[in-house]
Amino acid sequence: MDKNNAVAGVLWGGRFDGGPSKSLENISRSWQFDIRLAKYDILGSIAHARALNSAGILQNHEFDKIEQELRTIQEEILAGSLMPTSSDEDVHGFLERILIERVGVEIGGKLRAGRSRNDQIAAIIRMYLLDSEVQIRKLMVVLLEVIEEQATKAFTGLNKRSVIMPGRTHLQHAQPVLLTHHLLAHGWALLRDLQRLTDWKVRAKYSTYGASALAGDSLGLDENAIAKELGFNNLEPNSVDATASRDVVAEFAFILSLIAINLSRFAEELILWNTKEFDFVKLDDAYSTGSSIMPQKKNPDISELTRGKSGRIIGNLTGLLTTLKGLPLAYNRDLQEDKEPVFDSVDQLLLVLPAFAGQLKTANFNYEKMQSTAGGGFALATDIANWLVKRGVPFRIAHELAGECVRLCEQRQTTGSLGADGAEYDLKDLEDADFEEILGAALAKYFVNKGTSSAAGVREVLSIEGSAKSRTSFSGTAPSSVSKQLINFIKKINNFR
Ligand code: ARG
Repeated sequence: MDKNNAVAGVLWGGRFDGGPSKSLENISRSWQFDIRLAKYDILGSIAHARALNSAGILQNHEFDKIEQELRTIQEEILAGSLMPTSSDEDVHGFLERILIERVGVEIGGKLRAGRSRNDQIAAIIRMYLLDSEVQIRKLMVVLLEVIEEQATKAFTGLNKRSVIMPGRTHLQHAQPVLLTHHLLAHGWALLRDLQRLTDWKVRAKYSTYGASALAGDSLGLDENAIAKELGFNNLEPNSVDATASRDVVAEFAFILSLIAINLSRFAEELILWNTKEFDFVKLDDAYSTGSSIMPQKKNPDISELTRGKSGRIIGNLTGLLTTLKGLPLAYNRDLQEDKEPVFDSVDQLLLVLPAFAGQLKTANFNYEKMQSTAGGGFALATDIANWLVKRGVPFRIAHELAGECVRLCEQRQTTGSLGADGAEYDLKDLEDADFEEILGAALAKYFVNKGTSSAAGVREVLSIEGSAKSRTSFSGTAPSSVSKQLINFIKKINNFR
C-alpha cells in the first residue's frame, strides 16, 4: 500500500511502518455492505464541511469545491460508474479517497477535522434507518388498508349480515367470532407496530455529530446547524454514549422483528385455512405457486416465506443484541457488525410486505364454510352458562350444568345420533326435556326474575348469531361493537396515511 496515506485516502496510516496485511484488509473491509450509506455519508460530509466553513477552517471556495465534488461523486455512485476497490476499507474511507484524488489533499484533507468515523457512522446509520422507516411505514399502511377492506367486506358478507367463524383458543373451537373481528385482530397488532415506529423516530432523530471520536469536538463547530441540515431534531447529550450505543439500531431491528412475527402469525393461519380440511380461504393464482412434480398443487408460498423470513429477521435482532452485549464504552470495531443484520431485516420486510398485502387483497374467504363451522365443537357452551348466570345461578354451578349438556350431546354422538341438520349432534339438538332435566332444578332454586325461567328458553342463545350479538363489550365480537371498532381502526390508519 502507498505509504503516502493522506493522499491514498487511508484514514489512519501515519504511525504505521508498513501497510496492512491482506488478511487484515479482508477482515476489515465493510464497503461491500456499507456502500449503501454513501448517500448519507455524503450529506453528512457536506453538512460538516459547511460547519468547517462557518468556523473559518474551510474557505468559501474550498467549501464550494468540496460540496460540488461530493455531489458529483454521489451521482457517479448512483449511475454505477464509481465503485470502491478491494483496498478500500469502508464507505467513509472510500469517499474521502476519491474526494482527495479529485480536489487535492490541500482542500480534501481538511474535511476530516473535527469529526471521526465514530460519530459519523452513528449519525448516518440513523439517517438510513429513518429513510427505511418511511418505506416500511408506507407498505404497512397499504397492508392495513387491505385488512380494512377485507374486514369491511366480511362485515356484510353473508346476505348483508356479518360472517361468523369459529374463534379458537388452543387451536380448538372456543366461541364464535366475526371474521371482521378476527381480521381486525391482526390489524390492531400491526397498527401498534406502526405506532412503535413513530415512537422510535423520536429517539432516532438525535444527531451524534460533535461527539467526534468519543470525547467531543474542540474546533467549535456548529453542531446544531449540522444536525438541522441532516434532519435531526436534537443533539445526543453524551458523546461517549453517542458513539458507543446502538440501541437505536437494535430498537429498529426489534420493531421489524415484531412486524415479521405478527405477519408470521397471520401467515400461519392463512396456510391452515388454505388446506382442504379447513377450506376457509382460496388464494389467488397470482399469489400462489405450483409444484414441479404434483400437478394438482397450489401452494401458499408467500405465507410460508413470510413465516420463514420472520425467523431470519429475529435472528438478525438476536445477532445484533449479542454483538452489543459485552462491549465496553465507547466505540469498538465490533460495532461494524451492526449493519448487515439491520440492512437484511429492512430488505426482507420490503419483500414480504407487498407480497403479503397482495396475497391478502386477492384472497377469497369461504364465508359459507366459516359460518357453517362456527358453532361446531360446542362453541356455544359458555352461552348456556352465561344465560344461567343472568338468571341468578352462580357461575361455577352454571359452568357444570353447561358441561353436562355437552356431555349428553357427546353421548348421543357416540350412539350414532345426528343433529337436525344432518351434522354432529349439537347443543341446539337437545330436547326441551333434556334442558329441563339438566337445568331445571338450578333455575328453580336460583331464579331471580330475569327473562324466562323455562329451561328450554336457553335456546335463545343457542345460535351463533345470538352468541355473537350478546358479546357487546367494548372489544367484543357483537356486530354493534365490531362496527365501532372498524370505524376506530380506519381512523387510526388515517393518522399514518
Ligand atoms: N466501518 C466502521 C463501522 O462501521 C466505521 C467506524 C470505524 N471507526 C474506527 N475507529 N475504526 O463501525
